[in-house]
Amino acid sequence: MKIITDCNVKGKKVIVRVDFNVPRKDNKIIDDNRIVSSLKTINYLVEHKAKVILLSHLGRVESLEDKEKNSLKIVADHLSSLVHAPVYFIGETRGSLLESTIDNLLDGEIVVVENTRYEDYPKKLESSCDETLSKYWASLADIFVLDAFGSAHRCHASTYGISKYIPSYAGFLVESEVNMLDKAIKEERTLLLGGSKVEDKIGVINNLIKKSNKVLIGGAMCFTFLKARGFNVGKSLVSDENMDYVKSLLSKYDSKIILPVDFITEKGCKKIEDFKNDDIGYDIGVESIKLFKNELKNSNLVLWNGPLGKYEDKAYETGTKEVMKYLSEEKFPTILAGGDITGASAMFNIKMYYVSTGGGSTLEYLEGKKFKTLERLKG
Ligand code: 3PG
Repeated sequence: MKIITDCNVKGKKVIVRVDFNVPRKDNKIIDDNRIVSSLKTINYLVEHKAKVILLSHLGRVESLEDKEKNSLKIVADHLSSLVHAPVYFIGETRGSLLESTIDNLLDGEIVVVENTRYEDYPKKLESSCDETLSKYWASLADIFVLDAFGSAHRCHASTYGISKYIPSYAGFLVESEVNMLDKAIKEERTLLLGGSKVEDKIGVINNLIKKSNKVLIGGAMCFTFLKARGFNVGKSLVSDENMDYVKSLLSKYDSKIILPVDFITEKGCKKIEDFKNDDIGYDIGVESIKLFKNELKNSNLVLWNGPLGKYEDKAYETGTKEVMKYLSEEKFPTILAGGDITGASAMFNIKMYYVSTGGGSTLEYLEGKKFKTLERLKG
């Protein structure tokens, strides 16, 4: 892959697609991991005297109200508190103000362009990778850098589109995500899965189960597996549509697949064999936490996607939190992949070995899908 250090950026206009699609509440950023993760690339460009033009989307824009809710201004303001360089924000995605600001940028200065998805209302120009828009953005710069791993699976004007028209390179974040996820795919590892839907994990399981020494499954998705093993799971969430798939997986890999043995229900901690018809499990229980820690203790590498319980609710956070603390404190190389589990690590403030910045992109990468924009950076 061609990376940013392969080109001379001094005095050049460099347009960088970052993924600043950060979680917000009451118009405040609640997790700035994606911004912080792009700083290495941004600081490199500033130090090497490039004129830096940042593009990102924020949320989805399908109406005028979406435009109001999703301005990148709060991100630009936050960024200016993190870098030692002037940051200008232009509240538009094209036009004379944007063009003159870029023309007047000094080496080492930064301009943040308004949310690329403003171009999606009313005509979906960004998301449909409109040719004219792609060419226009490309015309603003000499070099394109893709540092938005979270959007690398999207063929949009600001990702794939621009890369067709000017020399294109990967930023440090894309480089490190690709290296880390390739390691998670190629090396033998323990797979730790959670979350509610079996169907969301089928692609990852199919691609990774062979080379996993163990697959530990928590979250609501484990109830489909427990039901397939013959347990009464009460009213816990079960995906009957995927029962045949789960049964065939168990028949092939039974000894690899480790399931919880107890759960936190509204009536306290219960063993799975004691579940009554109206019980619902919301988190893995005390014995399951011990079991999971014990299974994890010999792992050289852990790949974790999906929380083990309904962690947003304090009453059901313990399973996810305890296992995460254990992996962090015992310093197991653990790669967190996917929006929910990375959100949990931010919420618990637990430092992990590697936290992927991608949501859907990380999962698709782990499923073995090829991304057109990344392929383009290869040669
Ligand atoms: C994400 O949050 O997963 C990325 O920013 C991509 O967002 P999208 O699914 O709206 O394209």
